[in-house]
Amino acid sequence: MTDENRAMPGINAIEFIRVMHNLIYTARIHKDNNRLIKECLVKFKAILDEMTKEGDFKLQLWRGRFHIDGEKLRAGRESQSIINEMVGYLSERGIGAMQFSITSSKASFTDIMTLIRLIDLSIKNESPFEWLKAKFPGYSLEWVDIQKKKDDEHHGDESGEGYKRKKKAKTAYMMALDTVKDVAEKASKGVAGVLKARRLAQNIVDLIHEDRSLILGLATIHEYDDYTYTHSVNVSLLATCLGKQIGLSNVVLEHLSVCGLFHDLGKVGVPRDIILKQGALNNAEWDMVQSHPLLGVKRILRLNADKELRSKIILGPFEHHLNPDMTGYPKTHFMKKLSLSGRILRIVDVYEALTADRKYRKRSFTPDEALRKMWSEGEKSFDMVLLKHFVRMMGIFPIGSAVELSDGRFAIIMDYPDGPLAPATIMLLEKDSSGTLLHGEVKRLSGGRGYPGVSIKMGVIPSSIGVSVAELLLS
Ligand SMILES: [Fe+2]
Ligand SMILES: [Fe+2]
Repeated sequence: MTDENRAMPGINAIEFIRVMHNLIYTARIHKDNNRLIKECLVKFKAILDEMTKEGDFKLQLWRGRFHIDGEKLRAGRESQSIINEMVGYLSERGIGAMQFSITSSKASFTDIMTLIRLIDLSIKNESPFEWLKAKFPGYSLEWVDIQKKKDDEHHGDESGEGYKRKKKAKTAYMMALDTVKDVAEKASKGVAGVLKARRLAQNIVDLIHEDRSLILGLATIHEYDDYTYTHSVNVSLLATCLGKQIGLSNVVLEHLSVCGLFHDLGKVGVPRDIILKQGALNNAEWDMVQSHPLLGVKRILRLNADKELRSKIILGPFEHHLNPDMTGYPKTHFMKKLSLSGRILRIVDVYEALTADRKYRKRSFTPDEALRKMWSEGEKSFDMVLLKHFVRMMGIFPIGSAVELSDGRFAIIMDYPDGPLAPATIMLLEKDSSGTLLHGEVKRLSGGRGYPGVSIKMGVIPSSIGVSVAELLLS
């Protein structure tokens, strides 16, 4: 057994690349019916079947290295030159990833040769990747997909796309905090405008289209500022993500985003010690808390915004503490059912409030506990169709959750690249000499690849292990 086999038990990705390399170079000098080609094909088909027998196999190129399921492929010295050659070969054709599906078992030798010859020929075109992609539908190549090579991005590289997105997201978050604060302060004097909030909402919608995982990670920020403000920004981000999940248009998403930012505008008038009170509220205090949706609407009505926008951002904030059967508050007799934005805000508002790691509270809920609690409350409190979408969007352990793994280590859920039911990408947390948990390796959880035999044991409260999820995800 070579070092490479030991590094990746059961999966011989390096052998796969080596066999593909042989096939490509043999095909350059021989016709399809040649004996050597046949031998290469038999080997290629065997290893392809092996790699795809449990699911898709994705070979990815990133920063001049091959990665399998987000894990860097470590090649021994004897394979290095072939690996380097293949990195160059695919890069010059603009190929950033090749994904072989489980249906690869049905690929015939002719199909495989078609793929190999097309890839090889593509270099003769001005845009090899585009030419190749356009050729795919004309052949039986449904079992394989190719993805365009993106500009390499990496941690700390200020020219990388990922870095730029993180920077844009952080700026948007800080601007959102400023905007909510600014509007909250000015609204009572009737001079606040919504232009900034509107531009910000467009920014948030753009960012969600580009990188939803990043926005969901951002929505775990709880400690930057006054809780009401961070809560409002998080509600805005989560509501907009949920809106995107159910396919709302960009214009509606922008309204939803503004609704989220302003939904608790009425809380600004409620004394802080009442909002932060741990014990039961007396009647007068409770009345005051219950008045915040109506107070918020009054403030929104006074905003310097056109009538149409105001009409679109009033219902959500008014309704966000009402249940589907119209119980909750504020008491109303003129409405029979809740608006879509009201029902969305209701869900994300409760989730955010439950998971907020607030210092004054004895214990908050981990994201998975919060989702379970909300699910158990069911239709009494939430629109169940929307709640289902929300749970599906967040996953069992939502992006940004801190978790304990079955081997006792801690990690942060970073993404679900293949959907929330498929294995997650996690950031392992490594202890430094002082015992502080720091950003560690990024791995993909899965049965056989990447991080074998390890599963998520349970969610943990980030502050209980001394970490800030947002800082880890955004640094
Ligand atoms: Fe509220
Ligand atoms: Fe709220």
